[in-house]
Amino acid sequence: MGVPALIVAAGSGQRLGAGGPKALVELSGRPLYAWSVDAFRRATRIDRIFVAVPPGQAGQFEEPGIITVEGGETRSHSVANGLAAITADGDPGMVVVHDAARPLVSPALIDAAVIGLDSDPELHALIAAAPMTDTVKRLGEDGIVVETLDRSELVSVQTPQVFRIPNLQAAIAAGDLSAATDDASLVEAVGGSVGVIESPSGNIKVTVPADLELAALLLERSR
Ligand code: CTP
Ligand code: MG
Repeated sequence: MGVPALIVAAGSGQRLGAGGPKALVELSGRPLYAWSVDAFRRATRIDRIFVAVPPGQAGQFEEPGIITVEGGETRSHSVANGLAAITADGDPGMVVVHDAARPLVSPALIDAAVIGLDSDPELHALIAAAPMTDTVKRLGEDGIVVETLDRSELVSVQTPQVFRIPNLQAAIAAGDLSAATDDASLVEAVGGSVGVIESPSGNIKVTVPADLELAALLLERSR
């Protein structure tokens, strides 16, 4: 049986500054979010695709076959709304959460993440992550470096993130949704075990205009 996907696309895209929702910004001839929808369509483990959209703008999300859900005030609220829709007629077991802002996600990564969580009963979630390439330092309140962190212990967290639905529901119910930047951190906060799966370097996030240019170049190259 397949797993439902939730693509969160309800953000306003302040840092991109395109004057409208980031998910609808054009990337290589299509709205940004459509590239993620495509990858999830091609993933063999996915059976339904929910998309959390900016309130009142569902009509602009026209990809065939998707199920739109109204997003919320923060990313985690959008995930909570999507999860409510996904579980409205029962618990499908697992869910894959993905940011529409990562248009280069591959079907292979999506499937590998689902299979990875499905085959490890110890884990409550499995998330895509990349090794750190920058050196990372921690600053004190005065803005002065306190320490240089050991990069070999750090990863840069991305999406897709796969969850067992009861764990994600419990984490959302207990968590501070306004502060969380991903859902795995909510699962960690309630003691859940979160594993990582290494994502390819191309799984970039579109945050600022330069990212959009890079995504277009990478898409062009992969054609
Ligand atoms: N997101 C969402 N609902 C929100 C906020 C964010 O569904 N209330 C989604 C975005 O659409 C995006 C993903 O979460 O796909 C990651 O968020 P981010 O990259 O921060 O996108 P925006 O919030 O749109 O951008 P910004 O923070 O620059 O305004
Ligand atoms: Mg944001």
